[in-house]
Amino acid sequence: MRHDISPEGVEGWMSPEAGALLTKMASQIPEGGLIVELGSYHGKSLMFLALGAAARKGHVISIDFPPAHRQFIEETVRKFEAEDLVQIITGKSVEMAPRLYGQVIDLLFIDANHFEVKQDIETYLPLMNPSGVIMFHDFGSKQFPDVEKDVVEAFPDWQERTIGKVHLLLALRLGERQ
Ligand SMILES: C[S@@+](CC[C@H](N)C(=O)[O-])C[C@H]1O[C@@H](n2cnc3c(N)ncnc32)[C@H](O)[C@@H]1O
Repeated sequence: MRHDISPEGVEGWMSPEAGALLTKMASQIPEGGLIVELGSYHGKSLMFLALGAAARKGHVISIDFPPAHRQFIEETVRKFEAEDLVQIITGKSVEMAPRLYGQVIDLLFIDANHFEVKQDIETYLPLMNPSGVIMFHDFGSKQFPDVEKDVVEAFPDWQERTIGKVHLLLALRLGERQ
């Protein structure tokens, strides 16, 4: 993975400060751990996550739809020489979950369909490390109020669980670290 170029140059919406929080959270997964990103677009947040994963010898699975995005994500992954860190799955997040059965997700980043955050949480929570971290983008966004609504419904105690919040990016700890 290249560290001499920054994901900030990749097209997307993640601010440098929010990107730094993604990298920080990714760098705290257990050694050899697994990160899953739902919604990658061109791979900007994916590279922020991969930078952290590299520090833990972990890897990142990107799940994105539609298929037209795949070439952009692949291009970004190649540019950052992150091929050995990243696996790309093309398909709708809820439908692709069975591909992950048998694996344990240490960090989940939800940024796919902003009207289906509830479904993403319900589908992927059972696959997670009980002391893992779940992150959401567009929490508190006026444009996508359903994101906050779905997160608060799923985690009424979200404030106590919050371990990071930068702009519209939120990180929640699921349980106590073992
Ligand atoms: C906000 S963008 C992701 C931006 C990216 N996380 C970043 O910060 O660089 C949302 C992405 O999710 C994709 N998407 C929308 N609905 C999806 C679904 N049901 N499953 C997977 N990806 C989806 C969109 O096509 C788009 O590429």
